[in-house]
Amino acid sequence: GATAISVHKLGSRIGARIDGVRLGGDLPAETVAAIRAAILEHKVVFIRGQQHLDDDQQIAFGELLGPLTTAHPTVNTGSARVLSLKATRGMAANSWHTDVTFVDRVPAFSILRGVTIPAYGGSTNWANTATAYETLPPALKALVDGLWAVHSNDYDYAHQYGEDGSVRDEDTDFYRQQFTSSVYQTEHPVVRVHPETGERTLVLGHFVKQFSGFNAKESAVLFNLLQDRVTKLENTIRWHWQHGDVAIWDNRATQHYAVADFDTQPREVRRITVQGDVPVSIDG
Ligand code: SIN
Repeated sequence: GATAISVHKLGSRIGARIDGVRLGGDLPAETVAAIRAAILEHKVVFIRGQQHLDDDQQIAFGELLGPLTTAHPTVNTGSARVLSLKATRGMAANSWHTDVTFVDRVPAFSILRGVTIPAYGGSTNWANTATAYETLPPALKALVDGLWAVHSNDYDYAHQYGEDGSVRDEDTDFYRQQFTSSVYQTEHPVVRVHPETGERTLVLGHFVKQFSGFNAKESAVLFNLLQDRVTKLENTIRWHWQHGDVAIWDNRATQHYAVADFDTQPREVRRITVQGDVPVSIDG
C-alpha cells in the first residue's frame, strides 16, 4: 500500500518537511502525487534520513516526477544526470538564483541530496517567487507584468568570489571557465504563469543580464528593487543540512542561495533536475 506521508509546514510563506517516506524509484503513484502536491504548495520540501540513496536511486526517484535533464548544460560533471556540487575551499553558489534560467526550458524541479555536510555552516536558503509577486504593490505589478529579461550564463564568477579578497584561485578559474565554455542566452517574461498551479511567479535571479528595453544602469536599479522583495527574510526558509537530507524545490517558483560559511571543510551535495517548460507570460 501507499506510504502515509506527513507534511509539516516550516514557515508562513515557504518550506515544509515531509516525514514517513523512503525515497526511491518504487514509490506508489499515490505517494508520488502527495509529494508533488507538497512541493507545489510549499515550494521547497525537506526529507531527512535518506542515507540509503545513491545516484541511481536518486535518479529513479527523480524520474517519478518527470523526465530528467542532462546534469548541466555546460559544466562537465562526469555523469549524464547528476551534478556534484563539491567544495573544499568554501566555494558555494552564494548568490540568489533559479537554476539554469539561461536556457529556454527552465527545469521544473531540482532534487538535491546532502552527501558530505560540514560540522558548521553550509546551509541553503530558498525564497518564494510566487508570494514575492503576489505581495508587490499594484503599481509595481503593472510595471513587471509585461516586462521581459535577458538571462545569460555569462555570470560574473570572478566578481562573486573575488570581491571580498577571498577565494580566487585555480578552482574558481576552472569552474568559471567550464561554466561559461558555451554562452547561453535567452529571454524570459519577468512574470510567468506557473504551468501547474496557475500562480504568477517572478523569473529573476543572478543569471538576469538586463531587462528588455532598459539600459544596464536602469536594469540594475529595477533588478535590486525586485530581488529585495524576493529575498526578504520573511519570504525565505533556511535549511541546516544533515547527512542524508534531501531538498526538492519547484524551480519555477523559487530562488535559492547556498551560504559560503563553512571555511575549508568538505561539502558535497548532488543535484538532479526534472525537465520544465518554456516560461509563459500572462499574455500567453
Ligand atoms: C545549487 O543548486 O545552487 C546548490 C545549492 C547548495 O549547494 O546547497
